Amino acid sequence: MRKIITADGTETFLNEQVQETYHSQTGAVEEALKKYAIPCKTKELARTGKITILDVCSGMGYNEAMAIDVALEENPDCEIEVIGLESDPKIIEKIQEVDPPIKFFKYYKKISLGAKPRSSERNFLFRKSARVSEERKAPHFSAEIAPSRRDFRYRRLTQKNLELREGKVKVKIILGDARETCRKLPKNYFDAIFFDPFSPKSSPEMWGEAFFKEMYRVLKPTGILATFSCAQMARDNMAKAGLFYDDGPIVGRRGPGTIAVKWTI
Ligand SMILES: C[S@@+](CC[C@H](N)C(=O)[O-])C[C@H]1O[C@@H](n2cnc3c(N)ncnc32)[C@H](O)[C@@H]1O
Repeated sequence: MRKIITADGTETFLNEQVQETYHSQTGAVEEALKKYAIPCKTKELARTGKITILDVCSGMGYNEAMAIDVALEENPDCEIEVIGLESDPKIIEKIQEVDPPIKFFKYYKKISLGAKPRSSERNFLFRKSARVSEERKAPHFSAEIAPSRRDFRYRRLTQKNLELREGKVKVKIILGDARETCRKLPKNYFDAIFFDPFSPKSSPEMWGEAFFKEMYRVLKPTGILATFSCAQMARDNMAKAGLFYDDGPIVGRRGPGTIAVKWTI
């Protein structure tokens, strides 16, 4: 992965496999604020005293960390619960290599996969290597995102490092294919969904009707989903899943994003 400085001076990485950057090159942090935190009404929600956010394809966590900043600035007493869904342990390791101008990020950096296994855990891994191989065959990892054997070992050992609590802020990253891990989430639970996979062109499987149906299921009746893409295919699948969409903000040189809500009369 190669580090790129985006137009607002903030860092992102280029994923050589999909040939896409993790954030908009017009401004990584600007995108987190203007395409996710603002359209999902984070500031307004903070006034209610409690926010639940689902960060789909959380990567380095810019979107959620920015939303936490916005919420705490409006209401320092706000209770915030964030669940991030991410399949690639390597991008989570990269959190340590960036310093976006987001206040909460210094706490967010406690989320890490860097912990070395203790010797008892190493022995456990050695004994259980056959089970690990079985796990690698788990059908929910498509070939292109399948983590290596080493990554699986880290996942098994360090899920506890993927959770943090800082005051009234609770963050948990669930490792795995978001299309699978989302099924365990409660229905009607999230005020905001930040939907940020790679583009519909490179990852059409992430923008299908079935996954949007899951987003519909977990979104509160008053909740808002925001995404950077305005691809018609994505919007059609949102509509088939029961979501009502509209243009999101135009940021930088790109077209509008999309915001979506549950269709309620
Ligand atoms: C555009 S980047 C997201 C950037 C992220 N929101 C951030 O602020 O750093 C897309 C992310 O989707 C993740 N991803 C790709 N396929 C996935 C899947 N099936 N389930 C969960 N995450 C996936 C990639 O590893 C990558 O981190």
